[in-house]
Amino acid sequence: MAYPESTDSTSALPRHIAIVMDGNGRWAQQRALPRTAGHRQGAKAVRRVVQACSERGIEALTLFAFSSENWRRPQWEVDVLMKLFAATLRSEIDRLDKANVRLRFIGDQRAFSTALQNYIVKAEQRTVGNTGLALVIAANYGGRWDVVQAAQRAAADVAAGRLQPADLTLESFQRYLCLADLPEPDLFIRTGGEQRISNFLLWQLAYTELYFTERLWPDYDAADLAEACAAFASRQRRFGQTGEQVAGAAHA
Ligand code: IPE
Ligand code: IPE
Ligand code: MG
Repeated sequence: MAYPESTDSTSALPRHIAIVMDGNGRWAQQRALPRTAGHRQGAKAVRRVVQACSERGIEALTLFAFSSENWRRPQWEVDVLMKLFAATLRSEIDRLDKANVRLRFIGDQRAFSTALQNYIVKAEQRTVGNTGLALVIAANYGGRWDVVQAAQRAAADVAAGRLQPADLTLESFQRYLCLADLPEPDLFIRTGGEQRISNFLLWQLAYTELYFTERLWPDYDAADLAEACAAFASRQRRFGQTGEQVAGAAHA
């Protein structure tokens, strides 16, 4: 892999934004509400941000909804989150389809109930022909899992004689990873003040601009997104080159 094929160093608008939607629990705690109230409010922020991305002409938005580590939470919270996913999917799918959004899920869905798996398949099939924003929901997703599932599929191709081990390169391996068909994320946003990746996209974030904000996810809105995009536009992406090289290429 040479450069991420997504964006040249002078592009002001990120083509692909990836967000760790964090801070739902603290938002609720600050109001003496149960954590679940924060998750419900967080679902509303998803709607706002999807709309804002569509309006800004962002090509792809990947949202971290549930990590492979979130199963460690109390069972009641996991149950509420699963119910909220199903309910949100049901209530939003018409709106998303009308807005020309192409919806997709990444992560190991086998852990979900059959009903939820069916909703997911239906929602993906219904919007597969849409040409607007590509909206990716990472649910039971982990960056390490992603690399391992890619390695498993590559190994299966080698075992079947479809791939020679020597042909496994950075480019060809990448095709087995989630999001292989989308530009790599240009901008990573994490709300809620923590400055960590928490096993979100690991491979794919290699050259992504990282942006952290104290804002709690249930409060996040179009103005916050505009601020993150402005910060992105002010950065110089060098991809290993010198600042002078990048500036020279931009003026050539
Ligand atoms: C993010 O908010 C939502 C999920 C991880 C599902 P949190 O629930 O992690 O909120 P905090 O970090 O406890 O405030
Ligand atoms: C990351 O948030 C996962 C999602 C937003 C879905 P967490 O709140 O689970 O992350 P940690 O545990 O603080 O690292
Ligand atoms: Mg959290």
